[in-house]
Amino acid sequence: AKVNQLQRTGYHFQPPKNWINDPNGPMYYNGVYHLFYQYNPKGAVWGNIVWAHSISFDLINWVPLEPAIFPSEPFDINGCWSGSATILPGNKPVILYTGIDTQNRQVQNIAVPKNLSDPYLREWVKPRYNPLMAPVQGVNASAFRDPTTAWMGKDGRWRVLVGHKRGSRGMALLYRSRNFVTWTKAQHPLHSVAKIGMWECPDFFPVSLEGEDGLDTSRGGHGVKHVFKVSLDVTRFEYYTVGKYFPEKDRYVPDNTSPDNAMGLRYDYGNFYASKTFFDAGKKRRILWGWANESDTAADDIAKGWAGIQTIPRKLWLDKSGKQLIQWPIQEVESLRLNGVHMSKVNLNKGGIVEVKGISVAQADVEVTFSFKNLDKAEPFDPNWVDPQQLCGHKGATVEGGVGPFGLLTLASSNLDEYTSVFFRIFKAQKKHVVLMCSDQTRSSLRTEVYKPSFGGFVDVDLEDGVLSLRSLIDHSVVESFGAGGKTCITSRVYPLHAVAENAHLYAFNNGTEAIQIVKLEAWSMFRPRMN
Ligand code: FRU
Repeated sequence: AKVNQLQRTGYHFQPPKNWINDPNGPMYYNGVYHLFYQYNPKGAVWGNIVWAHSISFDLINWVPLEPAIFPSEPFDINGCWSGSATILPGNKPVILYTGIDTQNRQVQNIAVPKNLSDPYLREWVKPRYNPLMAPVQGVNASAFRDPTTAWMGKDGRWRVLVGHKRGSRGMALLYRSRNFVTWTKAQHPLHSVAKIGMWECPDFFPVSLEGEDGLDTSRGGHGVKHVFKVSLDVTRFEYYTVGKYFPEKDRYVPDNTSPDNAMGLRYDYGNFYASKTFFDAGKKRRILWGWANESDTAADDIAKGWAGIQTIPRKLWLDKSGKQLIQWPIQEVESLRLNGVHMSKVNLNKGGIVEVKGISVAQADVEVTFSFKNLDKAEPFDPNWVDPQQLCGHKGATVEGGVGPFGLLTLASSNLDEYTSVFFRIFKAQKKHVVLMCSDQTRSSLRTEVYKPSFGGFVDVDLEDGVLSLRSLIDHSVVESFGAGGKTCITSRVYPLHAVAENAHLYAFNNGTEAIQIVKLEAWSMFRPRMN
């Protein structure tokens, strides 16, 4: 296999070596950000899972610590799987996680800091009263995992969710406790959906109806909606709904604008899984972490000695419409920007292409705003096109359109036999326009054995101003893109053969008949922070 260490990421979260998956227990505590994550200390494939631990003061530079939680007790001897942190009254952080016990059952455990005066919370202890929750009463012991951050109701009781399936019904089991020690399973799950399979890594949190500030997980009442997210084991995608939480009944009901199924809203329409949010009390924002798996082969992962990254932390808040979330890379990322280049008022007629020069485009941040004069030439939209990923597969970057495809060719080789295209295409539907955003990996590499889907999502955006914006965080083997100010996000993991390091190029292009203008394009090389 042809493998290149130059394809390690520069500013995305990665340990020096080995396999990583889910982000675990992210929190902000006494001025320090903590990130734990699923980690194999022994190799670049999944197995031997422990909670690796890193800390940061800015979510950009990361200092590695010893693993915080690792198999040691009968209730976790076969694995320490995903979970979440909760900060209890009196400023006491605790972790709930899934242990794989001596009988290979999934159980929920608690771990607490050994020494609260250690500013880094290096050591965690597991009280004797573990496990807190065991799979009783017909609960499938191999589908009972990934506890959420707990929240407290007005009645003073804590609540926590555990991912589950009964038959093929996905379920978020609810447990309650007065003291965080004794937990009782509620009769009804908080929420469930038939024929969808296991719900991994549920997340449940309030969002404010106004503004971009985040809320503590226990916040409820007026001016608040709730978001419920699951990771679907079957499709390997996540979806979320925006809805209403009824605290008296402990039930959650999605709004009818949020489809409650595998075709529902996603944080990210690409390679992004097992995500988790936390409330950053320092900057009053809610931050999302997600795992992006590799797209090359397991043999390549082993040859490289590493697999998996965490995506750039994103601030997340409710869109003004109340119908979806908006996500944007945390502002701290901008501190990595070096020697930028700038372009404005560049016209791209049909077939037009312009190179962005003067920066290291393999490790870059690009922001661009495109404009178009009118939408008369937009292709008609067929209402049967319900799957945006399929549509991106049919209508790639080279398939001529009316308005679009226009966008960026990232990680491109000089002769354009390799590129990862991130682009928009605008269609005319019955009453409105439909905007499609694609992150197309099909031409990303001349290597045949890598996974090269064409990811896509629709963008629910008002086109009245005649502009569409795109931001891409490019980092060697990842392209993380934010359409229309963070309405639709897509992450691609790509392994070009030639478009590597200084041999990578960046272009803006238009393959639609309607002329497009680059109103403004700014791009920066990105500094390499301390990364573990
Ligand atoms: C999701 C997941 C979780 C589990 C963990 C094991 O990727 O399968 O459900 O807790 O990974 O590593």
